[in-house]
Amino acid sequence: MSAEFAASLATLADLLRSARRVVVLTGAGMSAESGIPTFRDAQTGLWARFDPYVLASPEGFAQDPDTVWAWYEARRRQVMSAQPHAGHLALARLSALSRFDEFTVVTQNVDDLHERAGCTNVVHLHGSLFAPRCMACAAPHRLDAGAVEPERAPRIAPPVCQACGGRVRPGVVWFGESLPEHAWQLAMQAAARADVMLVVGTSSQVYPAAGLPVEVRQADGQVAVINPDPSLRVSPGELLLRATAGEAIPALLTELAG
Ligand code: OAD
Repeated sequence: MSAEFAASLATLADLLRSARRVVVLTGAGMSAESGIPTFRDAQTGLWARFDPYVLASPEGFAQDPDTVWAWYEARRRQVMSAQPHAGHLALARLSALSRFDEFTVVTQNVDDLHERAGCTNVVHLHGSLFAPRCMACAAPHRLDAGAVEPERAPRIAPPVCQACGGRVRPGVVWFGESLPEHAWQLAMQAAARADVMLVVGTSSQVYPAAGLPVEVRQADGQVAVINPDPSLRVSPGELLLRATAGEAIPALLTELAG
């Protein structure tokens, strides 16, 4: 553990000792140590020849629904065969500490690893792989237990809605679409009230999620970033723990217990 990391860890632990309301903003880097490729890395292998902005857009789905549905089924299968890692588990234990009145996990991720690790207050800003819905009547669609093997099925026709016969779409937010209103309101309320925000595993390139740390700072909350990117720079006044989620969050839990 570097002296810089140790110092930042001690400072963050002190902030959390006096915090009552905590919000954690997570991105694809939070799931990376569970083997889930980040949005952009997901273009490796079978998907290397696709433009992700086509796969994750209403136009892309309209143009080629079978390829887009197969891509999300492949991602769902990856998540179903993955396990929450030490960082997810430590975050769930942190969220359960009686010292906090509020502990909200606001995630940009569409997997269910926070929930499977034991987090109970999770807000999905970009939807979920496990919440497909009908495009016509918006009825939730119940997924089969297992996804089709992606390697054998680069194209899968999306299911038909059992309620109205409409076409079912993935339950994730696509480029050009707005965030689920209720989720966004919950995220903004949590940020406005937070004493401390942890920002874990996100490049903070995609708004409005990337604007949440600004809300925290404007309400005099403290922001700490957990990210191993050697080139990452944080805003003045923000704390940086240059480490992975799997390294930093368990270390934080230990430091808090100390
Ligand atoms: P990105 O792929 O843009 O950024 C992932 C971040 O995680 C990078 O800053 C990495 O340095 C960091 N990282 C990598 N491994 C890590 C680890 N083990 N621990 C901690 N951090 C790690 O993913 P997001 O920022 O989540 O939107 O992308 C935001 C949105 O862009 C996604 O939700 C998706 C995409 O378009 C939609 O699908 C709507």
